[in-house]
Amino acid sequence: MSIESTVFGCTPNGQDALLFTLTNKHGVRARITNLGGILVSLEIPDRDGRPADVVLGYHALDKYLEQKTYFGATVGRYANRIGKARFTLEGREYRLAANDGPNHLHGGPGGFHRVLWDAVTVSGDAASDVRLTYLSPDGEEGYPGNLACQVVYSLTDDNELRISYAATTDKTTVVNLTNHSYFNLAGEGTGSILDHELMINALQYAEVDDSLLPTGRLLDVKGAPLDFTSPTRIGARIDQMKGDPGGYDHNYVLNKTGSELSLAGRVREPQGGRVMEVHTTKPGMQFYSGNFLDGSIVGKSGAPYRKHAAFCLETQYYPDSPNRPEFPSAVLRPGETYKHVTAYRFSTD
Ligand code: GLA
Repeated sequence: MSIESTVFGCTPNGQDALLFTLTNKHGVRARITNLGGILVSLEIPDRDGRPADVVLGYHALDKYLEQKTYFGATVGRYANRIGKARFTLEGREYRLAANDGPNHLHGGPGGFHRVLWDAVTVSGDAASDVRLTYLSPDGEEGYPGNLACQVVYSLTDDNELRISYAATTDKTTVVNLTNHSYFNLAGEGTGSILDHELMINALQYAEVDDSLLPTGRLLDVKGAPLDFTSPTRIGARIDQMKGDPGGYDHNYVLNKTGSELSLAGRVREPQGGRVMEVHTTKPGMQFYSGNFLDGSIVGKSGAPYRKHAAFCLETQYYPDSPNRPEFPSAVLRPGETYKHVTAYRFSTD
């Protein structure tokens, strides 16, 4: 286990953003910056021991300062959409930025993906941590309460990258943090993920309208192209996902009984044999098939990221839950602690 830190670049207000490199004994290497709590790269060996960087991203900090795709980012305060960019809590209406048509997306333009987090590293025998903290002031991006947040990235010698989130508030608020890594298990920039095999441990998903906002109805995956209850090529039925831009961009209702850490999904890339399992304590997971990528972004390896160049599995509360009392609640009150663990486990077959 080792941790190194270097300066990644300088933010517009003159602060250094750092880049931390965690390496385990199997050669798994994760790079994380405290700008946006972003996972910048993740090198994983294939079945023959050849490493590849399995997340999309950039080499340079300035690209992360302007990105609209949320590559690798810690997303907050509220991951995914809040309808009409507003919600009511304890009788008061809060208005947020409408940055996705009429809706609010991923915490707003100045969300957690854009802020500089404080960082410390902790080296242990079997795991190395990067611990990030950020105090989001009352009213930031329209949300109530001073929110004290912590995000811990841990890389273990068991080839697990674990992200543990915690938050406390001094006013009733809503919290829904996630990580927005775009994975391609053959390596970023190598092409599409349509041949990856995906299993999602969910029998239902949240139906969405044309603006990708939940209608409130939870539908059975059975019989639909959204059924990934058994391992299926991502591309097998993607053409049946009509609309603009088409593809998958849906919240799955995970099979679980409470907030235990349990299997949410498994992805396998047949060529190199890399397998990634996602385990989470949260009730939902957004499966996004990189539908908005259009080749205009050139990534780390110099290759353009085209449509379906990556997939995201974003563990979360359901989108728009602040306006959907029937969904699991993302409300956090003073005295309570928001807790969330998501573990990405890597192996080969
Ligand atoms: C999430 C959303 C998508 C898209 C991406 C970012 O996955 O559900 O619609 O906004 O983030 O591009």
